[in-house]
Amino acid sequence: MSYNTGRMDKEKELFQVAEEILKCRLCRQWGTGMPVPGEGSADARLVFIGEAPGKEEAKTGRPFVGRSGRLLRLMISEIGLRAEEVYITSPVKYLPLRGTPSRENVLHSREHLMKQLSIIGPQTVVLLGSVACLALLDRKVEITKEHGSSVRKDGRTYFITYHPAYALRFPKGKEGLREDLGKLVQKIMKTST
Ligand code: URA
Repeated sequence: MSYNTGRMDKEKELFQVAEEILKCRLCRQWGTGMPVPGEGSADARLVFIGEAPGKEEAKTGRPFVGRSGRLLRLMISEIGLRAEEVYITSPVKYLPLRGTPSRENVLHSREHLMKQLSIIGPQTVVLLGSVACLALLDRKVEITKEHGSSVRKDGRTYFITYHPAYALRFPKGKEGLREDLGKLVQKIMKTST
């Protein structure tokens, strides 16, 4: 598969990955409901990565459409972006049978995610919480300590912040997520002027 081509080609390639997810026996073994490959622009400069679909997502096949998704989408609009110009997804593509995805599940599913990232070729990948960090940084990250920081790895910038579900539970998480995203957008504006 050739990556980083024109927008139409990228959309086609993302569609092919979505088909692979639909047919993936291992993903299905750990999950239930509709596959949730992700949505947004195939040319996005910012990609947001969560954890795993919840019930609403498994019903609709769309990422981040439940309570935490509404908060994430609100915060994306607060930093002046439209949901259609970013890409939103998760390492795990099906609602996990046991709530939280197992490490094995995350390490398998991230193969699909890696292909999506190679196709989109974003400037920055926003890691929402520790499962996203495990999938892409390959280590356990304490979000309360490292949120708001960036990591360069394999030619890509990863930005660590809270998962919106944590932000819904803890005011400190909500403030942190809002501040981190504000900081991120400032940084991006600086590098693109
Ligand atoms: N939480 C996630 O991490 N991903 C989704 O798609 C929905 C909720």
